[in-house]
Amino acid sequence: MKIAKTEELPVGSTKLSTSQKSAPETDPRVENAVFAELKPGFYSGSNKLLPARAVRDLVNQLGAAVVQVRTPGGLGSGFIINEDGFLMTNFHVIEGETQISVEVYHQRDGQLERKSYKQVRIIALNKFEDLALLKIDEKDAPKFKDYILPLIFLKRLSDVFDDEIKQLADAKTKLILINSPHNPTGATIGDADMETLHDFTAQRGIQLVSDEVYHPIYHGRDTKSAARLPHATVISDLSKAFSLAGLRTGWMIEHDPVRQQKYWNARAYFSICNTNAGEILTEIAIRNRAVILGKSQQTASRNLQRLDHFMTEHRDLLGWTRPQGGMTAFPWLVSGENARPFCQAATERGILFAPGDCFDVPSHFRLGFAASGENFVVALERFEEFIKSWAAKMVTA
Ligand SMILES: Cc1ncc(COP(=O)(O)O)c(C=O)c1O
Repeated sequence: MKIAKTEELPVGSTKLSTSQKSAPETDPRVENAVFAELKPGFYSGSNKLLPARAVRDLVNQLGAAVVQVRTPGGLGSGFIINEDGFLMTNFHVIEGETQISVEVYHQRDGQLERKSYKQVRIIALNKFEDLALLKIDEKDAPKFKDYILPLIFLKRLSDVFDDEIKQLADAKTKLILINSPHNPTGATIGDADMETLHDFTAQRGIQLVSDEVYHPIYHGRDTKSAARLPHATVISDLSKAFSLAGLRTGWMIEHDPVRQQKYWNARAYFSICNTNAGEILTEIAIRNRAVILGKSQQTASRNLQRLDHFMTEHRDLLGWTRPQGGMTAFPWLVSGENARPFCQAATERGILFAPGDCFDVPSHFRLGFAASGENFVVALERFEEFIKSWAAKMVTA
């Protein structure tokens, strides 16, 4: 994690949203006058890497900055970023809404007291990055001095790229594999970052493989397939975005004829032929991809909205980064404890999670949200019951 300097603001910041060519049309509700209010150093911070901190410490330090954003259409979360009541939330939380209120949890004598602010202005929107900048505009609102979340960003690929990939890729590096939308986190790589990576690997003679099995299921910015890039190898299948895992069919897109020949050769060692009946069904599915993928997207979007609500309700126990694509999320226990016992206890209630230690991140757990019909609603009801009993057990332990 690192604190962003003013000149390296992420997309969605005021600086970029006013100048970015590809940004969506300015929302008429956006009031440019407010930019005059921004003080120098509004977003500034040290560029030094932050020391590693325990999750509990971070919750204690940063938890007060987290707020609930309410609209007639639903509920989301956000965080305050300066003492004048500017706050960040997701674009989808306030999309199309005009009545927005924000609930802040004020600390009073060791207790949390909820205060609702109903005068809230939209300052800037960025649909592609799924970000919105709001401001609590109420006259009697206090200074939010003790409620500021320092702008901490997970490293963007451009940082990771300079810091790590470029340095790690040496003469022995044969292949770089990127998975977007990512299983389990639901993170996605932006088109420009993918192109940078592509150009770098092409120049170095390193094969770039893009695993796109969750493409094109997105929950913020849409991302193009890497199939457009002449040196990229794309792998995909029917198991994820198409939700047709039983057909056991996948494909590769390869522009290089020499590599194509090598794959044919290698494949001949693994199997005699594909499942013919499966291939017929695959062809039907691919011809009807608009319908099938549309249904998957609809299911995933609806379930994610429900999950969003659930995660906000249980933010005292669970943390998460909302997925940008795909049908998996990778929440964590805010206590920082290993999530394996949590996952084991969940199986007793018929809930299946993958423990984070399978991915070398023990406090996390993977959750899938692709269930169709009312199945996900039922799953969340079970999860609700489970989490209540888990919380009760933690209090008595
Ligand atoms: C990112 C990713 N790629 C590829 C696969 C392979 O799926 P299948 O063997 O069903 O084609 C999976 C399965 O979990 C996956 O998560």
